[in-house]
Amino acid sequence: MCGIVGAVATRPVAEILLEGLRRLEYRGYDSAGMALLDEAGQVVRLRRAGKVQALADLLAEQPQTGEIGIAHTRWATHGKPTESNAHPHMSGERLAVVHNGIIENYEPLREALKADGYVFNSDTDTEVVAHLLDQTLKTGLSPTQALRQCVARMEGAFALGVVHADYPDQLLAARKGSPLVIGVGMGENFIASDQLALLPVTDRFMFLQEGDIATLTTHQIQVIDAAGNAVERPVSIFEHGQAAAEKGAFKHFMLKEIFEQPEVMKRALEGRISQGHLLEQAWGVGASAYFDQVKQVQIVACGTSYHAGMIARYWIESIVGIPCNVEVASEFRYRDVVLPQNTLLITLSQSGETADTLAALREVKQRVLASLAICNVPGSSLVRESDLALMTNAGPEIGVASTKAFTSQLVALLMTTLILARRTGLKPEQEAQIVEALIGLPTLIQSLLSLNDSIAKMAEAFAEKHHALFLGRGTLYPVAMEGALKLKEISYIHAEAYPAGELKHGPLALVDKDMPVVAVAPNNDMLDKLKSNLQEVRARGGELFVFTGCEQSIRDEEGVTTLTLPAVHPLLEPLAYTLPLQLLSYHVAVLKGTDVDQPRNLAKSVTVE
Ligand code: G6P
Repeated sequence: MCGIVGAVATRPVAEILLEGLRRLEYRGYDSAGMALLDEAGQVVRLRRAGKVQALADLLAEQPQTGEIGIAHTRWATHGKPTESNAHPHMSGERLAVVHNGIIENYEPLREALKADGYVFNSDTDTEVVAHLLDQTLKTGLSPTQALRQCVARMEGAFALGVVHADYPDQLLAARKGSPLVIGVGMGENFIASDQLALLPVTDRFMFLQEGDIATLTTHQIQVIDAAGNAVERPVSIFEHGQAAAEKGAFKHFMLKEIFEQPEVMKRALEGRISQGHLLEQAWGVGASAYFDQVKQVQIVACGTSYHAGMIARYWIESIVGIPCNVEVASEFRYRDVVLPQNTLLITLSQSGETADTLAALREVKQRVLASLAICNVPGSSLVRESDLALMTNAGPEIGVASTKAFTSQLVALLMTTLILARRTGLKPEQEAQIVEALIGLPTLIQSLLSLNDSIAKMAEAFAEKHHALFLGRGTLYPVAMEGALKLKEISYIHAEAYPAGELKHGPLALVDKDMPVVAVAPNNDMLDKLKSNLQEVRARGGELFVFTGCEQSIRDEEGVTTLTLPAVHPLLEPLAYTLPLQLLSYHVAVLKGTDVDQPRNLAKSVTVE
């Protein structure tokens, strides 16, 4: 999705902006640009379709010394990914705007501006902002007040950055429904759609609230709220440290993030466990009182986060013994949903900014007992707007394909399950036993990573294939779904997942020697049933790749490749069996030579519908 970076300093800012854009590349985009005020007080605009590197090359040809500027990576929504649609957009020669999100009423605004003589040079909704601000400034308002008035007239969810040659010391910013943070420096200040973009220049951040307008100079940050009142927003320190956003020795962020998982498991548990028990206070003020009343759980999420929710349904219904529904947010938000009394809404999101998940929360917030966000980004919209929040603490996830965020969500969901199960008869000693297994997770995950080489070898069988089928039963069915999603996301191989018991009801017709079948088959009470499903595949000449927990029960033979995982607590099986599937898709993608961290057409944080 689009990214914004802006800076006002007493040194040239072009490189700061460029580095900021590089750090936002992971979000997905198709053009990049920046606008700076040069020494002569003119706006210089540089834009390129394609990668940030193309913009960097242009900047190398035309070095810039401007000390104030805005920059943007655009992910096309209104209009093609061309240079003329790339941001910044200008009104005349003196005003430049970058924008994330969508302005829903841009058409009537554009018609009114055209009638007033404004000429449009792009297909974007953003250009409306530039002209509208120019028009409003002509009424004699200050830039801040003019921007506030424009924001009030624009419907939708968006974040804005503005520079104006007539106000060469001011960088303006606005936030309404899309994320925007202010980076607080020493004698310089910054804006960005994600704090990651600014880590090389500051670790102090101010989060804007809905409707806030900020005016930044080198030494001041003034914020007014939607009503026009001057407000103070607190400054917080970025927690994860800069190293978290760098690849280090790994070839890709995805691989780095897969290998970080032992540490991530530790962080997900940190502060939540004391003497073999979970600390309920970690779920937030008032959580216990809500949890006492919960009669059913509704989980809503998108993509990989949705798969985590599907696994949690098995846990909640079997351990807590109350009904649990799981639905993708884009369906849930538009359906006439029946929510029984005392429903706990759990939203799952790595970013906390996914438009559909956020909309689903807003849609039903008033009709549920309480909303709990399980999320990786503190200060994100989802966290701020929910009654309760449990942070997954996975650290920044850069690879578009989610890995460590998923496993950390599973830990958070399992802990939440236990907290709810306390109310329905889970005994302290049972809780202690599961908590002990959780504490062993970092070691378990570490041992699974040692399968990396064997999995890389296994991946060779997939590189030339066009399709793959993933099978699992019970909690391992959503794990199979997540494995299939990972493979299609980064290797572009068409992959589907089925509950193994459904094989006969359709997918078996597809099985032949060109359709590898991946099965996740831990040594649990579903193993025998799964084994007969696998026989059905073998009988049709399908090649099997089985991740199993029991060497004896499924053996390597012609057409069957097995990989044995260590024995694990049944509740941790979904976590353990996810790891090899992440590695499998990674190695297949590397063999195919795809853009692993930024797969085509996908975005990390889907902040538009
Ligand atoms: C996008 C990403 C996925 C992610 C999904 C939900 O599709 O590419 O990796 O699972 O959004 O994102 P969230 O931040 O809400 O977990």
